[in-house]
Amino acid sequence: MLPVSERMNARLHDLVPGGAHTYAKGDDQYPEGLAPVISHGRGAHVWDVDGNVYLEYGSGLRSVSLGHAHPRVLAAVRYELERGSNFVRPSAVEAAAAELFLETVPTAEMVKFAKNGSDATTAAVRLARAATGRTLVALCRDHPFFSTDDWFIGGTPMNAGIPAQPTVGFPYGDLAALGDLLAHHDGQVACIVMEPATQSEPPPGYLEGVRELATRHGAVLVFDEMITGFRWSEAGAQSVYGVTPDLSTFGKALGNGFAVSALAGRRDLMEQGGLRHDRERVFLLSTTHGAETHSLAAAMAVMRTYAEDGIAARLHALGDRLAAGVRAAAEGMGVGEHVLVRGRASNLVFATLDADAGRRSSTGRCSCASS
Ligand SMILES: Cc1ncc(COP(=O)(O)O)c(C=O)c1O
Repeated sequence: MLPVSERMNARLHDLVPGGAHTYAKGDDQYPEGLAPVISHGRGAHVWDVDGNVYLEYGSGLRSVSLGHAHPRVLAAVRYELERGSNFVRPSAVEAAAAELFLETVPTAEMVKFAKNGSDATTAAVRLARAATGRTLVALCRDHPFFSTDDWFIGGTPMNAGIPAQPTVGFPYGDLAALGDLLAHHDGQVACIVMEPATQSEPPPGYLEGVRELATRHGAVLVFDEMITGFRWSEAGAQSVYGVTPDLSTFGKALGNGFAVSALAGRRDLMEQGGLRHDRERVFLLSTTHGAETHSLAAAMAVMRTYAEDGIAARLHALGDRLAAGVRAAAEGMGVGEHVLVRGRASNLVFATLDADAGRRSSTGRCSCASS
C-alpha cells in the first residue's frame, strides 16, 4: 500500500538499528504495511515518500505545536544561521534566550539550555544528588518516560547493558503512598521526579501535598514539563496548578522541532553548576552543541509567538473542538463506547476498545510519550 515507504523502511532497518532514530517512530508502532516514511511537512500536514498527505496529530512527538516550518520560527533560525551557530564563548543569544525563558517561566530563577529533554532531566537528578548527598531517586511509576539515561532506562523492561539503579517508584495521585515511601527511605531520597499531570488532572491538593512532603523529607522536587510545558501553558503546568517545584525540565514544544531543552529552577541549586560558590561543583549540561544560536533563536520565536498569539488558549480551544467532533463522529457510527478521548484538551489521547468495550485494544499514535 505504501511501496516506496516499505522499500525505504527495509533500507532503514539495514542501516539504522530499529529502522528509525527514535523508538516511538519505529514501524513496529504502526499497522503492518502502513508505516509511512516522511518526505516533508508544512503546518499541520506531512507528506510521505509515496505522495500521500496526512494530518500529523502527533506533531513530531509533540515537539511541533506551532506547525511544521513555522514562518516566524524559520525566520529567527535563518537570521542566526547567517551569523554563525557555535563559538568558543557564549553568544548574546544565550543571554537573551535565558532572559526570555525566565520571564516566560517566572517560577524559575535560573536556566541552562541543552539539546534533549533526557539530558535536562538527568542533570536535574545529578544536581539533586549533589545538593542532598543522597542517591535514591523516587520516580512516578505511572509516567512513561523521563530520560534515555541509565538512572531511568535501568528500571524499564529494556534495561540490557545497564547495572542496577537506585530508584524507587510511587503511584500518581496517592499522597499517602508517597508519604509512606519517603518515610520508609527517610533521609535517602535525593529527588522526586514526576510529570505534574498527564491524562488526568491532579486530585485536589495532591501537588501541594507532594510539594510539602518533598520539603519535609529534604528531597528535591523535579517536575518534568517536557509535555506539559507549552501545552498546559507556556509557563508549564506548575503555573496552571500554582505549585512550584525546585527544578523543572522543558523540551519538545520549546523549539517547535528544533533541538532545545531547558533545566530551570531554584538559584541555590542551579548555582552548584556554576562558578560563584565554594561548594563542590556539579558538572551541569556542558556540551559542544548545547547553546547553538539557531536553536535558541527558535525557542525565543516560540516563546514570543505563544505570548503574542495566545497559543496555549488556542490549543485548548482546538482540542475541545476535536474531542467533541471525534466523540460525535464515533457516536454517529455506533462505536461511541469504543472510542475514548481522554486528557487535557491541549494534549488529547485517543484509545479504542475491543468489542466487549472492556479491554483496551490499542491507543492512538498521539499517546506515544516515550522516545
Ligand atoms: C515526559 C518526558 N520526559 C522526558 C522525555 C525525554 O525527552 P527527549 O526525548 O527530548 O530526550 C520525554 C520524551 O518523550 C518525555 O515524554
